[in-house]
Amino acid sequence: MADPWQNAYDFAVQVARAAGAVIRNAGEDEIKVQTKSCAVDLVTQTDERVEKIIIGSLKEQFGNGTHCFIGEESVAEGEPCILTDKPTWIIVPVDGTTNFVHGFPFVAVSIAFAVNKELEFGVVYSCLEDKMYKARKGKGAFCNDEPIKVSDVNDINKSIIISEHGTDRSIEKVTKIFSTMQKILRIPVHGLRGSGTAATNMCLVASGASEAFFEIGIHCWDVAAGAVIVKEAGGLVLDVDGGGPFDLMSRRMVSANNKVIADRIIKEIEIFQVVRDDAPIQKK
Ligand code: IPD
Repeated sequence: MADPWQNAYDFAVQVARAAGAVIRNAGEDEIKVQTKSCAVDLVTQTDERVEKIIIGSLKEQFGNGTHCFIGEESVAEGEPCILTDKPTWIIVPVDGTTNFVHGFPFVAVSIAFAVNKELEFGVVYSCLEDKMYKARKGKGAFCNDEPIKVSDVNDINKSIIISEHGTDRSIEKVTKIFSTMQKILRIPVHGLRGSGTAATNMCLVASGASEAFFEIGIHCWDVAAGAVIVKEAGGLVLDVDGGGPFDLMSRRMVSANNKVIADRIIKEIEIFQVVRDDAPIQKK
């Protein structure tokens, strides 16, 4: 049977590449910083511009009213963040905005596509490295068209684990994040890393450079595409609580090369509460 979403997949790759070029060529004034939810949650004109370009191109191609869009900056502007059964595009225009602002060299465009609430494909373009990661459900994962697979390390003592701090600086959360990192470091593992973009972190797990990436506080758009890429590369994506099923809207996840590594990491994670992406918007 013909693949009903092959066109959409190919188009997503084209759009991500074009968006990456806009990011690479952004001028000084397009890096001017504004803030969103707090003083360290950054946004630039480029984030907004690139999201408009991506959603505009997708709407032009598939916009007969049947497709829905969840974009990081549109949600920040008050658009709903609800995943329905309709074909839905889930987009981050600039993942790693803080990196982008500081010239720290990892920035990605992330585009995922879900139908009946199931992720069909994901594309992550790490645009400063010019690495195009992509995966279509059941068809494997690729980086620059070469197949990729997760690491075969089973021994946590031989692993590199990735995590991030996010943007919540409350003492409770910062303490839990660092307490978790301390426990993982002391297992011991070979190292702890973080690229500053969740989408890229997941691709590092998918390509075998790291055994696991976990974070509480990410959003659905940060990890939707990466989740397909990790699974298609032979890995798994789980909830941080007891390794239950991954819930895209829960704002937390562990992605790993295998269950042994995932379970060992999950044992150390100190969970804290975050507001779900699909929670009703509180009226001010
Ligand atoms: C952020 C990055 C970062 C992660 C944050 C995300 P943004 O996305 O993915 O690695 O720690 O949780 O919000 O804000 O740069 O698009």
